[in-house]
Amino acid sequence: MVKKIFSGVQPTGNLHLGNYLGAIKNFVELNNDNQNKCVFCVVDLHAITVKQDPKELRNNIRETVATFIASGIDPSKSIIFNQSKVTAHSEIAWILSCVARMGWLNRMTQFKEKAGKDKEKASVGLYSYPILMAADILLYDATHVPVGDDQKQHLELCRDIAQKFNNDFEVEDFFVIPEPLIQKEFSRIMSLKDGLKKMSKSDESDLSRINLTDTKDQIINKIKKAKTDSLPLPSNVEELNKRPEALNLIGIYSSLNNSSLEETIKNFSGKNFSDFKNSLSQLMVDKIDPISLEIRKLLDDSDYLDQILSEGVKKAQEIASQKVKKIHEIIGF
Ligand code: TYM
Repeated sequence: MVKKIFSGVQPTGNLHLGNYLGAIKNFVELNNDNQNKCVFCVVDLHAITVKQDPKELRNNIRETVATFIASGIDPSKSIIFNQSKVTAHSEIAWILSCVARMGWLNRMTQFKEKAGKDKEKASVGLYSYPILMAADILLYDATHVPVGDDQKQHLELCRDIAQKFNNDFEVEDFFVIPEPLIQKEFSRIMSLKDGLKKMSKSDESDLSRINLTDTKDQIINKIKKAKTDSLPLPSNVEELNKRPEALNLIGIYSSLNNSSLEETIKNFSGKNFSDFKNSLSQLMVDKIDPISLEIRKLLDDSDYLDQILSEGVKKAQEIASQKVKKIHEIIGF
């Protein structure tokens, strides 16, 4: 079966190890399979749900494209484009906002986390953001959506919206109900400073995350300073699950090494953290440093990055405009 893959990443700067291990690494594997049709979107409309500096936004859009390519996505085998240039996304988000129910959106935990205590001051866009995400996915008839664990609830909402549209307008199978593709073993990378908090670009402390543009020395320093507990490394997964910082570091190691938690535990059980951290730093430098160097190289060639986007926009527009036409007919416009 041909899988139609769609996913998006916000160009808000500081793309980090969580974005890479939770999502982008999976994009690369899916893109390498010639059977799949892949669309990867730089979701700049999502980015402006919180205030952005225009100059930085423009740079971050290019940096996101550079990160995709430096990580191994082949632009000749996939569509890479920026969301704002294909106006169908905003248009269909409006239509879907008339399908989605307030009660469904009120349950979204990410809005609650991001809006914090003062919900009255959050933008309306931040609240309705998952509807725009549904529009992104449904416009391309995506069958599979690779994301990190934190996007699972938004994908469930997307499925509900698609199903309700199909039912309301009696157009069975018009919108494809997409399947989430979430890494099985370790789908949520946590902060290096707090094993109970997600690694995030908005964390004030740069030591909490490995940025994909970090240098070798920065990586080594951040791993050295990463929080641990005082016990030696555990001997089984059950024990590991009770120790958030150990779980995070062993999970990161396993994910980078394409091995299971059990295999990693077997290699390091009983050792102290300083030995393990040396191996983790080495592995991370081996995997992340080449990406980081390539990102910096690509950023020097903004014409090349802009060209990838403009070619992607054309191809995306072609697919999206056909879907929009059908949506108009169904609704009665
Ligand atoms: P964004 O930009 O916050 O994150 C991009 C991808 O990285 C994953 N991710 C993580 N995975 C594991 N551990 C972490 N600590 C971590 N932090 C981030 C996210 O799950 C995501 O897959 N709403 C989306 C972007 C989006 C989208 C879409 C995704 C817009 N439209 C359509 C899929 C399909 C977001 O804000 O991701």
